[in-house]
Amino acid sequence: MSSKICVIGSSNIDQIAYTQNIPADGETLFGDSFQMGFGGKGANQAVMAGLLGADVYMITCLGDDVYKEMTVTNYEANNVNTDHIQMVKGASGVAPIWVDSTGQNRIIVIPGANNEIDAQKAISSMEEIGNISVLVGQCEIPMEVNHEVFKFAKNNSVTTIFNPAPARKLETEFLEHISWLIPNENEFELISGMEPSDENFLKFNKEVPCNLIVTLGEKGAVLVHENKTHYFDAPTVEAIDTTGAGDSFIGTFAYELSESNSPEACIKKAVEKASDSVTKKGTQSSYN
Ligand code: RIB
Repeated sequence: MSSKICVIGSSNIDQIAYTQNIPADGETLFGDSFQMGFGGKGANQAVMAGLLGADVYMITCLGDDVYKEMTVTNYEANNVNTDHIQMVKGASGVAPIWVDSTGQNRIIVIPGANNEIDAQKAISSMEEIGNISVLVGQCEIPMEVNHEVFKFAKNNSVTTIFNPAPARKLETEFLEHISWLIPNENEFELISGMEPSDENFLKFNKEVPCNLIVTLGEKGAVLVHENKTHYFDAPTVEAIDTTGAGDSFIGTFAYELSESNSPEACIKKAVEKASDSVTKKGTQSSYN
């Protein structure tokens, strides 16, 4: 029987506009194409793990709008358990996204129901699921909820992965509940107050009570461990759309970790999956 992964976090509907150039202030431009699909950092990470064959449970909160049913159906289609999805009145999360000709994106998240997720219900869900081996979270739901849920997980010997995205400062007490902290370079800069560099990765790792991996985009990722950095190069690919690549890394890393693979093997596989995802359009649609 495979180990259980629980993801707590956001579900969004991604509304992606592909354009050669990003408009300047006050400018109107014609874009190339538009795609609507399923997103949200939490959802993407759960779906990636589900596609790899994980036994994955999603704790998220949806509104009572047209997106509710289709989001649940999408989770089911991607092998993600939906028994613990919370529902509230109002709008579900949405994310208007611009992707330019280099594949780079700019994202605005309107959290909607993601902000209404209830910590006590989430903890009850985790008790009901039982025997969770890995918990995954991000910053697209209120941090108070993350605090309570990750504290519960740590007290129950669950391995925890936290992806501090979108970036925000993390309290030391919260970091004590984290086994693996995985920011990208921009997030590293904001949470550590230092520029991303080999020296600063090592310095920050000494300041935090958890393991550290920094994802480096097209350069791969770095594992910071026992006062050493270990770099994992990414294959050279043509980037069409980088949206959700970081989430693909996290979902793959969580799955590989739940299968008791070494951190090095988990990162290698996660870099491969994230690199592959940037060669295709869309968020979750680039994971297949
Ligand atoms: O990381 C990509 C994700 O960020 C998108 O799916 C969007 O919904 C935002 O959450």
